[in-house]
Amino acid sequence: MKNNPVVPYILIFALGLGLIFFMSLYGIEQKDEIAASNEEGKTEEKTDDAAASEDFDPETFAQGQCVSCHGGDLSGGFAPSLHGLSASKDEIHDIIKNGQGAMPAFGDKISDEQIDQLSDYILSLK
Ligand code: HEC
Repeated sequence: MKNNPVVPYILIFALGLGLIFFMSLYGIEQKDEIAASNEEGKTEEKTDDAAASEDFDPETFAQGQCVSCHGGDLSGGFAPSLHGLSASKDEIHDIIKNGQGAMPAFGDKISDEQIDQLSDYILSLK
C-alpha cells in the first residue's frame, strides 16, 4: 500500500470532494443573506422608481431609453429620427405605449402621464 502510485490521486480526490461539500454548506449559510440583500435591492429600486415618477424628465428618460436605437440626439440610428415627426401626439403616444414593429412598448415601464410628457418632448424636437 505504501508504494501504491494511486494513493496521491485518491487523496486529491478526497480533498476535492471535501472542498465541494464545504463550499455547498457555506453557500447554504449565505443563501438567507443573499435573499435578504436582494430584498433590500428591490425596495431600493422601488423608491428610485417612485422618485423618478415624481419628477420625470422626458429628456433624461429619452437619453437613457431611446438613444440606443434612435441615435445620440434622437436624430436617427438603427431606428428612424424622432426630429420633425409629422405624426400627431396621439399617434406618438400610442407608439411609445404599445410599440410598433421593432420599436419596444414602454407602456409597462412608464405611466400614461409620463408618456404624454415624453410625446410633448419628442414633438418639440425640430
Ligand atoms: C430597440 C430599439 C428602440 C428603442 C429602445 C426605441 N425605439 Fe422607437 N422605434 C424603433 C424602431 C425600429 C422604430 C420604427 C418602427 C416601425 O417599424 O414603424 C421606432 C419608431 C418610433 C417612433 C415612430 C416614429 C415615426 O416615424 O412615426 C417613435 C415616436 C418612437 N420610436 C419613439 C421612441 C421613444 C420615445 C423611445 C424611448 C422611450 C424609443 N422610441 C425607443 C426602435 C426603438
